[in-house]
Amino acid sequence: MTNKIAIITGGSRGLGKNTALKLASQGVDLIITYRSKKEDADAVVAEAESLGVKANAVQLDVAESKTFSAFATTVKDLLSNTWQRENFDFLVNNAGIGINTPFAQTTEEQFDQLVNIQFKGVFFLTQTLLPLIADGGRIINISTGLTRFSFPGYAAYASMKGAIEVLSKYLAKELGARGIAVNVVAPGAIETDFGGGVVRDNEQLNNHIASITALGRVGVPDDIGGVIASLLSEDNRWINAQRIEASGGMML
Ligand SMILES: NC(=O)c1ccc[n+]([C@@H]2O[C@H](COP(=O)([O-])OP(=O)(O)OC[C@H]3O[C@@H](n4cnc5c(N)ncnc54)[C@H](OP(=O)(O)O)[C@@H]3O)[C@@H](O)[C@H]2O)c1
Repeated sequence: MTNKIAIITGGSRGLGKNTALKLASQGVDLIITYRSKKEDADAVVAEAESLGVKANAVQLDVAESKTFSAFATTVKDLLSNTWQRENFDFLVNNAGIGINTPFAQTTEEQFDQLVNIQFKGVFFLTQTLLPLIADGGRIINISTGLTRFSFPGYAAYASMKGAIEVLSKYLAKELGARGIAVNVVAPGAIETDFGGGVVRDNEQLNNHIASITALGRVGVPDDIGGVIASLLSEDNRWINAQRIEASGGMML
């Protein structure tokens, strides 16, 4: 049987990297994207290849929707040259940034940056790649626990993720006829470089999050990649249009 192929945006670090390596360990071939950290992306590719799958890294800024059709052409060429295929199976819209700023001080520039990366990018990248997603494929969009509970400073960020959750339901409805399932994974606070690494590096915040998490600690990337990989497995093929929160039980 031939391997499935996944595209993971923001696969160079953090949750995208963890997802890539979990999928690789399950025999899924990869195209990961990165914005600026080519060396990190190349290291993920090398690690995935050492697990026995085919992997490639492609530069992509998800804030630049005008580049998406060129990206799709690159993907098409890769699929044809590396896999002799015209389509891929799984899209994981993961790339993102966080900006923590109180509602009253949020600037239009910060808002636009977040909307371009977290919402517009996902909307139009998915639209552009749609003809390249195989019938029966899957899409996972990454949201956040912050759409269920509120933490001061995340009004703009969490609103974009809320939009992603609504979009995911519409995608599930409209793409169902092609057998494409669409789900959301909503991580709680995870120790990555996200937001300047604050969850990992700020001891006070780390302890606070642990204290409001039922399982008593902050999340790590290994808590998330497996969730995404399992949602993409055959065992979970009937899960569709769902928001799966992976937060260890934050803010219950
Ligand atoms: N960590 C958390 O606590 C947490 C919680 C809930 C949800 N999330 C969500 O999970 C996703 C991944 O976060 P993370 O924690 O893994 O973050 P991270 O460790 O900071 O990694 C971010 C990844 O996204 C890429 N990226 C950033 N801006 C980009 C852009 N404009 N265009 C394309 N790629 C871009 C980065 O590429 P380079 O390496 O090239 O910079 C990197 O691969 C995000 O959508 C985030 O909102 C995170």
